[in-house]
Amino acid sequence: MDLGLEGKRALVTGASSGLGYAAAEALATEGADVTILSRDEKRIQAAVETMRAETSGVVSGLAADISNASEISSSLAKVGEIDILVSNTGGPPPGSAENATEEQWLEMAELILFSAINLTKGLLPGMIERKFGRLIYITSIGAVQPINDLIFSNTMRAGLAGYCKTVSNNYARYGITANCICPGYTATERLSHLAEARSASSGKSVEEVQSSFSADVPAARLGRPEEQAALIAFLSGDKGGYITGCSIPVDGGLNRSLI
Ligand SMILES: NC(=O)c1ccc[n+]([C@@H]2O[C@H](COP(=O)([O-])OP(=O)(O)OC[C@H]3O[C@@H](n4cnc5c(N)ncnc54)[C@H](OP(=O)(O)O)[C@@H]3O)[C@@H](O)[C@H]2O)c1
Repeated sequence: MDLGLEGKRALVTGASSGLGYAAAEALATEGADVTILSRDEKRIQAAVETMRAETSGVVSGLAADISNASEISSSLAKVGEIDILVSNTGGPPPGSAENATEEQWLEMAELILFSAINLTKGLLPGMIERKFGRLIYITSIGAVQPINDLIFSNTMRAGLAGYCKTVSNNYARYGITANCICPGYTATERLSHLAEARSASSGKSVEEVQSSFSADVPAARLGRPEEQAALIAFLSGDKGGYITGCSIPVDGGLNRSLI
């Protein structure tokens, strides 16, 4: 199936590894010109080299911290016109209502919520003018069915789902779609770090925690980053043009709700 991505210009943030990398790789494989962005200069340049070798796509890299609004402005000035935004970051640490500090809440708002808001605000005018845009926010299954110890993630991503829905309502008439991808447990560096944190707080071994992740999943396994990426590529192209305002689980059935 031709997804209509040839020559489209994509910006994927949080993309030196994990879900962001996989999304960017899928877009580059389908013919999009892709800029990948994350904080560490060496890691992002290494990811560019690997992706070029694996896809023969037009791939470039940028180092910036998207929790910082001025770094977003300078990055957007460098990348120029963008048709597809995949907004992704690192994940928040575990936390609880009793222990989370105001400083942590503000930091997590900047990382998860304001990064997506500032990227969107910077790119919307060009998308409106060209009457095409794809805004894709990688959130979490926790935005649909909150995960007990991830209070920062659950709260910020639910807010982002509300933002996404509002943007989709207001800009669909310009050919701009906005959707959230809600990954379940997916095998990346982030999931390994989460397993280590839960092991430290529960006294269980890392292996026990890891197997408890897939024990809750009807598919009885972890997800693969490329399974998230395939949906992102579909939504990014012409064929995804009538899907907007959705928070879509890619979770092996982990979320038990009807809709
Ligand atoms: N994996 C899962 O099971 C799962 C499930 C649900 C939701 N999620 C969410 O999906 C997102 C991606 O997860 P992942 O598993 O792919 O994580 P990951 O493997 O830790 O990758 C995170 C990426 O984001 C970059 N990054 C982190 N902070 C950044 C910042 N402030 N500015 C720019 N780039 C930044 C990292 O590179 P640098 O460190 O070089 O910046 C890295 O490339 C996270 O928000 C995570 O919570 C993951």
